[in-house]
Amino acid sequence: MAPTLRTDVSSLHLAGRRSPEASLLSPVQTCAGRFGAAGSSPEEALRLRPGEAGSAAPAGEKGTPPLVAPGLFISFEGIDGAGKSTHISALAEAFKAKGRAVTLSREPGGTPLAEKLRAMILNDVMDPLTEALLIFAARRDHLTTVIAPALARGDVVLCDRFTDATFAYQGGGRGFDLDVLSKLELWAQDARGLGHDFVHELGKKGEAAAIVQPDLTVWFDLPPEEAAQRLTGARVPDKFEAQPVEFFRRVAQGYADRLAADPGRFARIDAGQTREAVWQSVHGVFTGKGWL
Ligand code: TYD
Repeated sequence: MAPTLRTDVSSLHLAGRRSPEASLLSPVQTCAGRFGAAGSSPEEALRLRPGEAGSAAPAGEKGTPPLVAPGLFISFEGIDGAGKSTHISALAEAFKAKGRAVTLSREPGGTPLAEKLRAMILNDVMDPLTEALLIFAARRDHLTTVIAPALARGDVVLCDRFTDATFAYQGGGRGFDLDVLSKLELWAQDARGLGHDFVHELGKKGEAAAIVQPDLTVWFDLPPEEAAQRLTGARVPDKFEAQPVEFFRRVAQGYADRLAADPGRFARIDAGQTREAVWQSVHGVFTGKGWL
């Protein structure tokens, strides 16, 4: 995958931390500041005073405060070599061109703490439970300090991998216990610690439980043999990229299982097409939903 996104993501996120004072605020305070201060109903809560909305929304009718467009959480998945990075960057530009504020991030990582954990997860040998615990610890930090505040601001959050990767790689690839992963998912993505109004917003989106999940997951589906060919000689492989093709077959099956369990959340893209055709497919998903 293109190394540019890697650099962009890290720098964007560190830049997104604003001042040391801002980073001292807990995520709960950040959410409450955005939702709680403006009113108690979700509609009231999303209403900001003129000038407060930044780039997020056009002004309403005369005398009507502008509405912040609701935050959108989109994750991108696929086996290594599936080619998602360039399309994530292109989508970020497309959303910005529509006047939306975009938070670009990735997992494992996306915060200073989670990036430290990422280095261990991708390079150090460890037992599967340790690996799963570190991944979910990184995810919790990312969720509380970056994703939830960004969604509360009304940003479009484009995240290169999220929990489906854990079910695909640790569950499918490594064969780790899916029930344990489901428990960790419930704990790490529990929305209750993120502020009452945030839970309310999730409830509106039809979440069965108050756990944070993407609104949409774009799965770049590519046969493992083809992905392996694309990766050959690309760079020094990390712990996962160095796995044999059978590992990636199990990972791909893991993604297919996640899609089958929650088809409404997924858009499957045939990543074996030309890059332009893949982009047309990806773009079509977003225009089809009225998001672009
Ligand atoms: P990747 O997203 O492919 O980034 P890059 O393009 O910079 O290599 O790399 C992250 C790796 O981490 C990838 O091999 C999948 C793996 N991974 C897991 O095993 N479990 C997870 O939960 C996540 C998020 C990633």
